[in-house]
Amino acid sequence: MTYVLFNNEVTTREHVKIDMEDRGYNFGDGIYEVIPVYKTKTVAMEEHLQRFEESASKLEIQLPYDRNVMSTLLNELKTKNKITDGIIYVQMTRGVSPRAHLYERNATGLITGFTREMPFPVDQKQTGIQAYVTEDIRWLRCDIKTINLLGNTMVKRMATDNLCQEGIMHRNGTMTEGSSSNLFMVKDGTIYTHPATNLILNGITRQIVIELARTNGYNVVEETFTTQQLQEADEAFITSTTQEVTPIAQIHGNIEAQFAVGPVTKTLQQLYAEYINENRK
Ligand code: PDD
Repeated sequence: MTYVLFNNEVTTREHVKIDMEDRGYNFGDGIYEVIPVYKTKTVAMEEHLQRFEESASKLEIQLPYDRNVMSTLLNELKTKNKITDGIIYVQMTRGVSPRAHLYERNATGLITGFTREMPFPVDQKQTGIQAYVTEDIRWLRCDIKTINLLGNTMVKRMATDNLCQEGIMHRNGTMTEGSSSNLFMVKDGTIYTHPATNLILNGITRQIVIELARTNGYNVVEETFTTQQLQEADEAFITSTTQEVTPIAQIHGNIEAQFAVGPVTKTLQQLYAEYINENRK
């Protein structure tokens, strides 16, 4: 039997009832997190739940319970579903109210969650992916991990239609991030990535990789870079909970380039794998 989280209960899917005037359904008014599970244990649950709380606070939605209750419930869900390798997905919408743009402040959110068994990428991490470069058509609060993801999903569709596995976006020639990942490039041994502003999601994997890179002697520069700088880079890679550290082999679209799966990317993959092994809880 597969279990899901519905507010404060780990239950089966038949017991979940979502009102058609839930603001998540009407407005995409809600937030989410994706937490990885490796060999039955979670990694960076605290960091993900902290970002969940920050997203909630930016949108003025109240959590129905605190972080301890949340992690207890998510662990119960993971255990009951016997997840070995995969993800826990949790989301919170602003809940039910008659459809109107104006939201009441501090309504208590409605929580749902599920797990998915999902092997982490092996081949793509070795060979690299094809990435499609396109315009960032999203809003200006990409720092909030909202379920309102149309800009991201449209870019992913466009990437796939162009035989690429990820869309990587630019605003007026400045690279921002991937449709569901953060973007890095390497030039002359220095690692570059967009600063954690309102224009990107500050990925948990991004933060871990930056920290690992710095403690291992790499110079990491959190500054913007242009499409042209990317084109001239030595290496490029994306990071996310589900993609880990995945090299970009080729970029297409607005610009074209080819990258080797280089030594910096390979070292970061290795460091990230070690981090995962040492931080399963
Ligand atoms: N996406 N940027 C965007 C737009 C994302 O959607 C994601 C993650 C990231 C990387 O964040 P993290 O390292 O915390 O996973 C960056 C998740 C995996 C998703 O939507 O499925």
